[in-house]
Amino acid sequence: MTTRRAFAAIAVSLFVFVTIPVSAEVVAIIGTGRMGGAIGPRFAETGHKVIYGSRNPASKKVNALVTQTGHGARADTSAKAIAEADIIVLALLWSATEDLIKENVDKLDGKIIFDITNATLKALQPDREGAVDSSAGALIQAWAPNAKVVKAFNTVGYHVVADPEHAGGPVTVPLVGNDQAAVEHVSEIVQAMGFQTIILGGIEQAHVLEGMATLYFVPYGSGRFDEAFEYYFRKGTAPEGIGSAQVRGADISVSTTLADETR
Ligand SMILES: NC(=O)c1ccc[n+]([C@@H]2O[C@H](COP(=O)([O-])OP(=O)(O)OC[C@H]3O[C@@H](n4cnc5c(N)ncnc54)[C@H](OP(=O)(O)O)[C@@H]3O)[C@@H](O)[C@H]2O)c1
Repeated sequence: MTTRRAFAAIAVSLFVFVTIPVSAEVVAIIGTGRMGGAIGPRFAETGHKVIYGSRNPASKKVNALVTQTGHGARADTSAKAIAEADIIVLALLWSATEDLIKENVDKLDGKIIFDITNATLKALQPDREGAVDSSAGALIQAWAPNAKVVKAFNTVGYHVVADPEHAGGPVTVPLVGNDQAAVEHVSEIVQAMGFQTIILGGIEQAHVLEGMATLYFVPYGSGRFDEAFEYYFRKGTAPEGIGSAQVRGADISVSTTLADETR
């Protein structure tokens, strides 16, 4: 799907600012650093059973996170957490992701991989260690072909994931993934955590989201912290009278759902 076709398939969801419980699935959060420590408590407070997957599940740091998370959360090895989970959140370093997926690929079949990782594109930084030709999201889907990879939250700072109020206004979370039902399910979860969502196509579009993350981190990478920004997409308009025939590359078989925001 081309970028243009993907954008033709945009589905803007209703913005929900309150936390709403969505279900009681088991969620493995792999990695207990900044993002794992931010997203785990959010899953717990939206009604999920959280198991942290860590290299050191009995460490003081992980114990403190489990206590902070509450709601029956616990920690285990990554392999055991993945085996028990319905949804696996990849909140670990990109450099450790390939091994983690390959070592546990048989336990990932049919499950949702909630991919928040970011990899550097070789086109942008050819000499950077771990730089990729395609994207982290596309590679993860290739390493775990029977899993349903959905990319989300890779464009949001951990402090905003922990508390969307830190953004000082609404935040849009772009999502991509090949399995429509899985993408919609992740979209519901992200909305329940207090974010607006926008679905931008299949996992081959993950490089677009990872490029957005590169931009997002510019103020941080250059130490201009007072220039930090958040992504917020408001509903736009198409040119008057335009039809699918005038949009080169548009896939007219893809249904487009556009909803007005509630705020
Ligand atoms: N920081 C952000 O605001 C942000 C925003 C969007 C996306 N992301 C993405 O989220 C992912 C995690 O970022 P982060 O900022 O949370 O990183 P971090 O604070 O450095 O935490 C990474 C965690 O990965 C786990 N890990 C597993 N294998 C590891 C290894 N070989 N070496 C080091 N750590 C290993 C560790 O948990 P255990 O010790 O428990 O194993 C560690 O705490 C990255 O892909 C990043 O690009 C980050």
